[in-house]
Amino acid sequence: MLKKIIIGLLIVFVIIQFFRPARNNSGDTSMDMRKKYTVSSDVDQILERACNDCHSNNTRYPWYAQVQPVSWWLASHIKDGKRHLNFSNFLANRVAFQKHRMEDCIEQIDKGEMPLDSYLWIHKDAKLSDADKATLKGWCQGVIDSLKAQYPADSLVMPKRKRA
Ligand code: HEC
Repeated sequence: MLKKIIIGLLIVFVIIQFFRPARNNSGDTSMDMRKKYTVSSDVDQILERACNDCHSNNTRYPWYAQVQPVSWWLASHIKDGKRHLNFSNFLANRVAFQKHRMEDCIEQIDKGEMPLDSYLWIHKDAKLSDADKATLKGWCQGVIDSLKAQYPADSLVMPKRKRA
């Protein structure tokens, strides 16, 4: 009985290997935030190490991402992460949203919620030191300040959601 179950599971494992989600490597940076905002090499390194895998159009895939069901699991994180914030597509958003997302970044860093814990288990180097946090938050604040300097205050207010 046990042997049959194991063989059954092995067959399922082999079959699911043929169903791989598309990779997040479009490399599309036409709306990348770097086109408008300065990203110093310090900041760039932190983003690359700790955030871009889930918040850009270019994920660095580890070898085990080839294996199912791991790649589905990663793909769902990436999709969800990009839906909330995509540095490669940042400029496609209204300025109010851009400012809002930078405020969210500061909040996420303060709360220690990003990078996700599950990512840190494997990517030990993605852990942000206090200095990294300060650098990243300072940069986010710089983007917010430059938006405030360029646009009238009312264009930076997020539209209120209609109550259902
Ligand atoms: C392993 C993938 C992953 C990594 C790495 C990651 N994030 Fe996220 N991020 C997500 C996912 C998934 C969400 C949406 C769900 C949630 O809020 O937990 C998200 C949401 C966010 C949000 C939006 C929160 C909100 O209020 O809607 C911000 C801002 C953010 N991440 C910033 C960052 C920053 C900054 C880094 C790097 C320091 C980072 N993330 C690293 C996956 C990731």
